[in-house]
Amino acid sequence: MKKIAIFASGSGSNAENIIRYFRDGERGAEVALVVCNKPDAGVISRSRALGVETAVLSRSQINDRELMLGLLGERGVDLIVLAGFLLMIPGFLIETYSDRIVNIHPSLLPKFGGKGMYGRHVHEAVVAARESETGITIHYVSEKCDEGRIIFQAVTAVSETDTAADVEAKVHALEWKHFPEVIAELL
Ligand code: GAR
Repeated sequence: MKKIAIFASGSGSNAENIIRYFRDGERGAEVALVVCNKPDAGVISRSRALGVETAVLSRSQINDRELMLGLLGERGVDLIVLAGFLLMIPGFLIETYSDRIVNIHPSLLPKFGGKGMYGRHVHEAVVAARESETGITIHYVSEKCDEGRIIFQAVTAVSETDTAADVEAKVHALEWKHFPEVIAELL
């Protein structure tokens, strides 16, 4: 059984969706651990309610080489999945889990990526730029924010009357549909 660790900072709808997708064990993988850096994030109660071990760690703990490699190594983690995780991944993790850390970004990278571009901010920028389409990007994580090799993209139309909340709903739907399938493929 392959082991997935999810890193998340927010409400955790993607984390929950991925946990449920792999839950019955028939896909040969399971979510063994959720790591969260925000003590009040929704993802914590979501993942604990589904019986998944959930570690709430500070930024300095996440940057602690011995602690993190121990935590992930002891659980035999094969793939790290960032699902709305807002801290930069430390270099020692990128080295140790080379090509085994993936992120989802809620736009068609390289558009609307980089520092400060996360969650609703991305969708507000898409609406302000009067884009006619947006989407999701699943990519490997590198030392540079949102610049790792792209694995998968999916597109959705943006209409002239769409608000940022409308765009967010469309993008979330794409994420829920595709992210678990792409993770299964990678594994
Ligand atoms: C998702 O839309 C994800 O693409 C985005 O945060 C949201 C988390 O939603 N990630 C980023 O913006 C990373 N730069 P969730 O907590 O409901 O899964």
